[in-house]
Amino acid sequence: MKQNLNSKKKTFLVIFITVFIISVVGVFFYLSTKQPSNNANSHVATEKKDTNQILKADTLGWKAPEESTIPTGQAGDEIRYGKELIAHTAIYFGPKGKVAKISNGMNCQNCHNQAGTKPYGFNFSAVAGSFPQFRNRSESWVSIAGRINSCFHRSLNGQSPDTSGKEIKAMIAYIMWVGKDVPKGIRPKDAGVLKLNYLNRPANPIKGKIVYTTCQSCHGKDGQGQLNEQGTEYIFPPLWGKHSYNDGAGLYRLGNFAGFVKGNMPFGTTYKHPVLSDEQAWDVAAFVNSKPRPHKNQSKDYSVVSDKPIDFPFGPYADNFTEKQHKYGPYQPIQKEKDKLALNKK
Ligand code: HEC
Ligand code: HEC
Repeated sequence: MKQNLNSKKKTFLVIFITVFIISVVGVFFYLSTKQPSNNANSHVATEKKDTNQILKADTLGWKAPEESTIPTGQAGDEIRYGKELIAHTAIYFGPKGKVAKISNGMNCQNCHNQAGTKPYGFNFSAVAGSFPQFRNRSESWVSIAGRINSCFHRSLNGQSPDTSGKEIKAMIAYIMWVGKDVPKGIRPKDAGVLKLNYLNRPANPIKGKIVYTTCQSCHGKDGQGQLNEQGTEYIFPPLWGKHSYNDGAGLYRLGNFAGFVKGNMPFGTTYKHPVLSDEQAWDVAAFVNSKPRPHKNQSKDYSVVSDKPIDFPFGPYADNFTEKQHKYGPYQPIQKEKDKLALNKK
């Protein structure tokens, strides 16, 4: 009798465990089939994450060559002169320039930090291996000299130096040297600047003004920057106003500015230890971009309007969003529309 009861208990237990296992497996199976529709949400969730967290998983492949490896002799002298020109452009080409007075007094290095060698600081790693390059902005093939010239016209709000002169040649020699170890066609991921996650609201100049109080001690209350004693170059470059870059410059695009600032400002910041949140970076970008600066007629830029980057602040556009939304966001709806148009093209 007792034995009988025991074996009944056992049978019951076996049945119970089996049913339990089947239901657990069943629930798992059900959840896994539901995943595709869940995916979109989990994607959004990671996209909303602050860039700080996403970056921790990154491993970087590029490191600028050591300065001590610049060759001796004439070739090396040219590279060193090129570096000097990029670091202290204004001394040669600024309003008090020794070679020519053709630019606003900013240095290439103000944006191409550490003479174009800093990760996520608009470094030159990708240039040697990717030029000449077809550029949508001009709808044409552009050489390195042509690219340098366009930074003179826009970022330095000036004129380009003689392309056959020794200065442009030296800058090219230096830029080629910086990128010499990067294989052709490869764009290291730390070239350019951090790509920040989009906000789900327009970037806000009023909030950005508060963030700007942390920038002011160097860049000035009116964004005017600060010249050195001799007035030959900036100690702190201007962020807006008549001596700053013009509105045809790449830095005037909100995403470029926000990404640059996140990875490099306040001065001394690296992408590994950003000081600003994504939100603060977008908002301070909006504040700076709400201020006046020199204007460049850019009506010939991106003559194929569907090639315009979504944060290009001048119409016409291939979509129906306003200039204001292209200037300040929110960008998800524009990006979505752009992806749709691209899909339709295929
Ligand atoms: C106000 C900021 C600013 C200044 C000053 C500036 N640039 Fe640029 N430059 C940019 C931006 C923004 C880009 C676009 C970067 C990108 O597309 O990732 C760029 C792109 C370039 C590129 C192409 C980089 C690439 O990876 O394709 C070269 C070369 C270049 N600049 C050279 C110069 C030189 C030389 C000077 C000085 C004469 C200069 N720039 C001054 C902001 C600046
Ligand atoms: C401690 C001083 C300091 C502070 C604070 C600082 N910057 Fe800068 N910033 C610099 C210097 C110096 C450069 C030029 C870098 C170089 O030439 O190597 C620069 C360059 C820049 C540039 C690119 C060049 C230009 O003139 O447009 C931008 C944009 C910029 N800073 C934005 C900001 C913003 C926004 C903040 C506040 C969140 C900030 N900076 C805080 C010192 C500072």
